[in-house]
Amino acid sequence: MDRIVINGGKRLNGTVSISGMKNAALPIVFSSIVTGAECIIENIPPVNDVLMALEIIREMGAEVEFTDIFQTTVRINSANIKPCSAPDDMVAKIRGSIYLAGAELGRFGHSSVALPGGCNFGKRPIDQHEKAFRTLGADVVSDDKRITCSAPEGLRGATVYFDIVSVGATINAMIAAVRAEGVTVLEGAAREPHIVDVANFLNTCGANISGAGTDTIKIRGVRELHGCDCYTIIPDMIEAGTYMAAVAATGGCVRVENIIPKHMDIISSKLSEMGAFIEEDDDAITVTVNKRLRAVNIKTAPYPGFPTDMHPQFSALFTTCDGVSEMNETVFEQRFRYVDELRKMGAVININGKTARIAGVNRLSGATVKAVDLRAGAAMIIAGLAAEGETVITDVESIQRGYANIVNNFRALGADIEDIGYAVHIFNED
Ligand code: EPZ
Repeated sequence: MDRIVINGGKRLNGTVSISGMKNAALPIVFSSIVTGAECIIENIPPVNDVLMALEIIREMGAEVEFTDIFQTTVRINSANIKPCSAPDDMVAKIRGSIYLAGAELGRFGHSSVALPGGCNFGKRPIDQHEKAFRTLGADVVSDDKRITCSAPEGLRGATVYFDIVSVGATINAMIAAVRAEGVTVLEGAAREPHIVDVANFLNTCGANISGAGTDTIKIRGVRELHGCDCYTIIPDMIEAGTYMAAVAATGGCVRVENIIPKHMDIISSKLSEMGAFIEEDDDAITVTVNKRLRAVNIKTAPYPGFPTDMHPQFSALFTTCDGVSEMNETVFEQRFRYVDELRKMGAVININGKTARIAGVNRLSGATVKAVDLRAGAAMIIAGLAAEGETVITDVESIQRGYANIVNNFRALGADIEDIGYAVHIFNED
């Protein structure tokens, strides 16, 4: 059983370099299918979800080859990929597989893919994805196992009015529409930086997308796309925010580099509100904390609001603050599974509906806890770093899904942390 062992109470000091963004890399890898050509993509994060995505398209017949020893630059050629051939068991492992539906539909005029996996936050429907495909003229049949789409005459541009702000549905609609006949407008689109990144990648390959990053995205269909000889994925704002929350919890001074500070604005402003000292450079942020921080209230929201993917990490931070903080989760139905694990460490948390009230305590105590999902796992690391004594985190494979080298990075910042049997997934080159 993989596990991470931490002896807490050490301040964090030093520099950490951030990888490419997992939630940009996943749609970019899958949307390369819609080009049908060779794409060279840089700053691929070496995390298991992205390695799984690359293995899926390789199983479908794409050429996939890392061109560097660190496995961060990949050459993909999807010219000979076979549609509707993604292995169901692999697809079921990651949420990002859902982008196969839009990519196959956009390239071949039909798609069939098993329903995706992903972290368990309660219901994670795909009705907005289906709505977008139908609005573009596809017949969509879905059940509790798979989604199948077909548009024998090809997709036609149209205006899609989303009923809910959805990152995945916005991206999937954009991917499907790039080769549709005519103009597509996405109203009520999500505005996350990784949506802009996917649009930039597709435009580099000959698409004609404007407005990404706003709530109205326009896609003028083109007949063909081409490949690209170098696209660089944006840095991972959630990975960066995780290290910022960690030093806020332990105290110390950490410079987080290779980032886009603008993407961190809401996280930086929250930490400042709590009493942390934040310094910004062009591509780095330094967080300095020399005292107990103040309690604050957070309400998660789509970008540019406070990201739901930073909710568990800040809840762990709140246990170290002066006073009672509130975490109000508005994006997902159920994202509090980590609370029971924090309670094992002495956290005092009261959940009422979708709001957790978290009282600052003198010190958490080390315990054996589970990483119940990806960001909950990161929260367990933050809690363990701040706690008194030894914390053992089990089920760490969920952490490996989205964080590259997290144990080594924290060790380099002065943490007493080690991984036992932490088998890193290596992409098996032929
Ligand atoms: C993406 O999930 C991310 N995953 C999630 O990150 C992230 O938490 C989420 O966006 C929000 O930012 C990937 O990019 C692989 P949504 P996604 O569609 O696209 C509801 C992580 O930790 N909804 O924006 O699935 C949905 O149930 C992961 O990296 C519908 O109702 O999120 C949720 O309540 C966790 N119908 C809300 O919208 C739909 O058709 C937002 O979901 C689609 C979504």
